[in-house]
Amino acid sequence: MKQPIYLIGFMGSGKTTFGKLLAKALNYEFIDLDHFIEKEQQATISELFEKYGEEGFRDLEKKAIKSTSHLRNHVIATGGGAPCFFDNMDIMNGLGTTIYLKLEPEALAGRLLPGMSHRPLIAGKSPSELLFFIETKLAERAPFYEKAKLIVDSSGLTPEDTVRIVLKALG
Ligand code: S3P
Repeated sequence: MKQPIYLIGFMGSGKTTFGKLLAKALNYEFIDLDHFIEKEQQATISELFEKYGEEGFRDLEKKAIKSTSHLRNHVIATGGGAPCFFDNMDIMNGLGTTIYLKLEPEALAGRLLPGMSHRPLIAGKSPSELLFFIETKLAERAPFYEKAKLIVDSSGLTPEDTVRIVLKALG
């Protein structure tokens, strides 16, 4: 039985797509922490932000991370902000292997533009506002993301290529 793998990275970095592929390659289960919270709370992330504010959502997120502590043979995709609040990054590093999927702001913006409405932090932004938001937030979050045990620059790579690189690095 193996420790869980936590995927971290900015919104739009492909944690879910990559995570499902990685889980399949390792024969692990896949969990998306945002979906886990939505299911538990019977509400969407946008509704939770509206109801409890970002602060309340971060509390739910922290609880969700703690509730994964017993899991083995799981790949867990976390929300983009999850590693950057409380001691969540240290907790995840203590529980398993953390992998940061790193991508340039322009690439993130390109991926985020089509589906912004269900992401409360970026909903309603213009393309230039989105890019500015990503650059600013990424700079603020990078020190947390860079605490990951494995950092993969996935710019220009397909999810399949990224899986191959990660499997090699994990040994
Ligand atoms: C957030 C990222 C989202 C979700 C929430 C807040 C963030 O997850 O948790 O909208 O703070 O970056 P994804 O990274 O899966 O989009």
